[in-house]
Amino acid sequence: MESRNTLYEKSEKIATITINRPKALNALNAETAKEIMARLEDAKNDENIRVIVITGAGDRAFSAGADLKMMKDVTPVKGVELSRLGQQLCDQIEALGKPVIAAINGYAFGGGLELAMACDLRIASENAQLGQPEINVGLIPGWGGTQRLPRFVGKAIAKEMIFTGKRIDAKTAERLGLLNAVVPADQLKSKVKEFALELAGKPPIAIKLSKALINNSTETHPDVGMWQEAEAFGIVASTEDFKEGVSAFLEKRKPQFKGK
Ligand code: CAA
Repeated sequence: MESRNTLYEKSEKIATITINRPKALNALNAETAKEIMARLEDAKNDENIRVIVITGAGDRAFSAGADLKMMKDVTPVKGVELSRLGQQLCDQIEALGKPVIAAINGYAFGGGLELAMACDLRIASENAQLGQPEINVGLIPGWGGTQRLPRFVGKAIAKEMIFTGKRIDAKTAERLGLLNAVVPADQLKSKVKEFALELAGKPPIAIKLSKALINNSTETHPDVGMWQEAEAFGIVASTEDFKEGVSAFLEKRKPQFKGK
């Protein structure tokens, strides 16, 4: 597809999607959201790709959120559509079956934070700032923020962040459980690559099934979740990758997982 708002690169089993509107601090308009969705679909279907990284162009922003210019003068129907579009993008990440890492290279506000929260891991540069500032323009989060943020930080902190719109720095976000790691800005790319390569070497079916189980864990009744885990365990235990993992362990070598 023609790419106006995103860059897309594949190397060493990693697909990297870069939101490429640095002059607008990588704000997400509908076109950009749809481009990201098309890239994600491609990465999902590409057997050579095991991990996806989403980041922002430039050194200021991962994404400053939904593009406020497209939000001006929306009708209720259009507003619902824009909200659903972002929600579908986030749901696509969760349903993708491969790990998705957000490399947060600066501001992650509004829809930018919501996009990052849908990813499996979030690694941020020390200068990153996170927040749901929609309240300051008379909005509420519309791409899943009212639902995902409390699951990370609890209702009290989520209400504080959403009611006040205040920004938090990367260290605070890490302490609150929103981030997996915070690294110096000049090391973000290399640390994310290190992380992605580690995940790319893991057995894909085990990753896919554990991702689905964990994503559903807060909504599923524990008894049902346990059954689902047991069934997934049965599937994983019958894969070629499990045989390879055990053989490699006994032969004291590194396993080569094929996703079979
Ligand atoms: N939408 C559209 N354009 C945006 C934008 C956004 N969300 N955020 C920044 N920009 C644009 C600015 O308009 C500006 O463009 P021009 O140079 O053409 O004027 C450019 O990016 C640089 O921004 P600033 O000059 O404002 O840069 P700054 O360093 O002074 O401030 C900022 C940075 C604090 C991020 C500030 O730009 C800001 O507050 N942005 C809005 C953040 C926001 O409210 N995000 C939530 C959006 S709504 C949403 O996301 C709803 C949802 O849940 C889906």
